[in-house]
Amino acid sequence: MSVSRRRFIQSVGAGSAVLSADFISGRGHEAQAFELAAMQPPDDGGFIRIDSNENPRGPGRSAIEAIRNATTARMGRGYAPDHVMEFYTTVASIYGVERTHVIAATGSGPILDATTRAYCAMDKPLVTAAPTFTNCEQTARRMGVPVKVVPVDKSLGLDVDAMAAAAQGAGLVFFCNPNNPTGTAHGAATVEKFIRGLAASSPGTKILVDEAYIDYAHDPAVKTMAALAKELPSVIVARTFSKAHGMAGLRLGYALGQPETLRAVSNAWGLGSLGTLTAAAGTASLRDTAHMAEERAENARIRDFTLQAFRDMGFEGTNANTNCVFIDIKRPAKDFRDACAAQKVRVGRDFPPFEKSHTRITLGTMDEMKQAVAVFRKVLTASPSSRAQ
Ligand SMILES: Cc1ncc(COP(=O)(O)O)c(C=O)c1O
Repeated sequence: MSVSRRRFIQSVGAGSAVLSADFISGRGHEAQAFELAAMQPPDDGGFIRIDSNENPRGPGRSAIEAIRNATTARMGRGYAPDHVMEFYTTVASIYGVERTHVIAATGSGPILDATTRAYCAMDKPLVTAAPTFTNCEQTARRMGVPVKVVPVDKSLGLDVDAMAAAAQGAGLVFFCNPNNPTGTAHGAATVEKFIRGLAASSPGTKILVDEAYIDYAHDPAVKTMAALAKELPSVIVARTFSKAHGMAGLRLGYALGQPETLRAVSNAWGLGSLGTLTAAAGTASLRDTAHMAEERAENARIRDFTLQAFRDMGFEGTNANTNCVFIDIKRPAKDFRDACAAQKVRVGRDFPPFEKSHTRITLGTMDEMKQAVAVFRKVLTASPSSRAQ
């Protein structure tokens, strides 16, 4: 055990209810290469869990070290914790914006909810895609406001032209780039043209660009819309620490936008308040660009392995810019999912309108994917009669 790891465990207490491996990690599972290795992994009941776009490697070393260093008596002074302000200023400096251009939340989920509540109404529909991440749609439906759902195009990418047409007079457009679950991504020129076009033709319509997976984008044309969030009152960019930063269990996300635009979001719905340790870890992780490069490379290696394994079996996936792959398995997702679950591999839910043909598989560790691929091969090559059993 490394000295730093031993000190960390001594300082927080291994298995402590307050700082369990589960709590501090993205998932904490199979994290041998990382500081979490000596802590108790969560019991997944023997399942390989590749159904929720979590990160099996958890946070990087510097984030864990930041948690260790922030674990002091000062945690008793939580109402104006140093690390929270530092988190805001770090985000602002990365994007060259003021502190007032940033709001933070306990994950980006609350930001999506709040933005929908701030900008949608009976006469201001939500425009979203299918399939895409459904937080905004679910919130809009709970509010009882109209939702216009625009199917993805033939390449399974967001149909930018159809979304622009549907968005005239809308309250909010949810634009997930890269898109979950399809993994497709639009380059900056396309997204910027879409945003500027909409700002001109429907100036009252807000655009929420969800960049949850952008750290994984391998297409160099894919870029953050942060600069447009600073420039235009209609743009909000949402980011999360639940994916490449490996901190789903810590709950941290933020949004960028003009102060007025963000004020309406903050006033619409509770965003939660950041804890000292979360803020310290988030700040350290943002600064650790070397770790992010490693994380991106590891995800790409596992994605390429997984896509190639499906290709070898005769099934194609999209060119994923995410930590999940979306595969045309030529059969209902539920049948595949149930057959995999029977062999202790959990894969994604149904994603209409592709529930009869496609499955979403989150990328686990390379070891997990090797085991999972063996199960996929068994399930996908089973004869129809044995499949029915
Ligand atoms: C596209 C997208 N946005 C936002 C989220 C929410 O992430 P969190 O609330 O954990 O930050 C997710 C989670 O899966 C996601 O896929």
